[in-house]
Amino acid sequence: MNVFDSFGSNNEKEELHRDPPYDSIVRFLTKLVRPLEGKVAIVTGGASGIGEDAVKTFVENGAFVVIADINDELGHHLATSIGLDKVSYHHCDVRDEKQVEQTVSFTLEKYGTLDIVFSNAGIAGPLSSILEFDLNEFDNTIAVNIRGAAATIKHAARVMVDRKIRGSIICTASVAGSVAGSAGHDYVTSKHGLVGLVRSTCGELGAYGIRVNSVSPYLVATPLVCRALKMEVSEVEANANDCGNLKGVTLKAKHIAEAALFLASDESAYISGHNLVVDGGFSVIDTSFPSIIKN
Ligand SMILES: NC(=O)c1ccc[n+]([C@@H]2O[C@H](COP(=O)([O-])OP(=O)(O)OC[C@H]3O[C@@H](n4cnc5c(N)ncnc54)[C@H](O)[C@@H]3O)[C@@H](O)[C@H]2O)c1
Repeated sequence: MNVFDSFGSNNEKEELHRDPPYDSIVRFLTKLVRPLEGKVAIVTGGASGIGEDAVKTFVENGAFVVIADINDELGHHLATSIGLDKVSYHHCDVRDEKQVEQTVSFTLEKYGTLDIVFSNAGIAGPLSSILEFDLNEFDNTIAVNIRGAAATIKHAARVMVDRKIRGSIICTASVAGSVAGSAGHDYVTSKHGLVGLVRSTCGELGAYGIRVNSVSPYLVATPLVCRALKMEVSEVEANANDCGNLKGVTLKAKHIAEAALFLASDESAYISGHNLVVDGGFSVIDTSFPSIIKN
């Protein structure tokens, strides 16, 4: 099925099909309209928030997607609501390497290949003082946010290298991976580490034509943030807009999904090791300085 199949009568299509340039034009236009046409993707943490929007966006753009998550109810519901011909749900706790490996195997059995991995599963961790730091909580945040991403990159890359797939791996980092002060110590540490993991693995995997990048969102009113801040969506968005640099736009999960789509597609064919910050300039502006100048 391609974008032209919905146009013209059957006779017209048959005539066009006899003309060899038609095929290349169709391929070109299909890629233009649906840049992930026929690609296979895994989205960890795909049952909710940013991951959920990424699943929808990848499918809209032609991909088959495996949702890998621990929230079975949300994951199954999302897969069913989009259509089980395009999306599957597979239980996967990214802290458990075996489950990550099984998710990759499941994807290969189901769809025959693996082109894109969006390693997006993450938790907020506690917002506690370093003086009251709970090291067990710290281990858990690191286990999900960094160890989970490392396991995901490892098993995806093994398959891509073995099968000579020039794939795209994208991790969800955060503005907290570039600047401190916007989240708890656990989270800031984990996201700084994740940016390092992306840079380091892009170095090794570049030799195989595999790209590794991260996308770093500013505040999005997802369940993770609403729970961590104990706020409603509208309150989170009002606060995000107040503190944000770029006025007139409220950052939504869809904006992050579109950044991930760009990194997943051939539009970003020579981009690797990049941390695509989606924050309207928040992390590069020192907001105290303008007031010093004015005063
Ligand atoms: N929302 C924001 O403002 C924001 C900002 C920067 C970065 N991020 C990052 O975006 C990513 C997605 O978060 P979100 O805001 O969409 O939150 P969310 O809570 O809506 O989604 C996170 C998903 O990850 C899943 N998950 C949690 N632990 C898991 C595990 N061990 N194994 C597999 N799946 C697991 C959850 O079940 C959930 O479906 C996270 O990595 C988060 O750190 C979010």
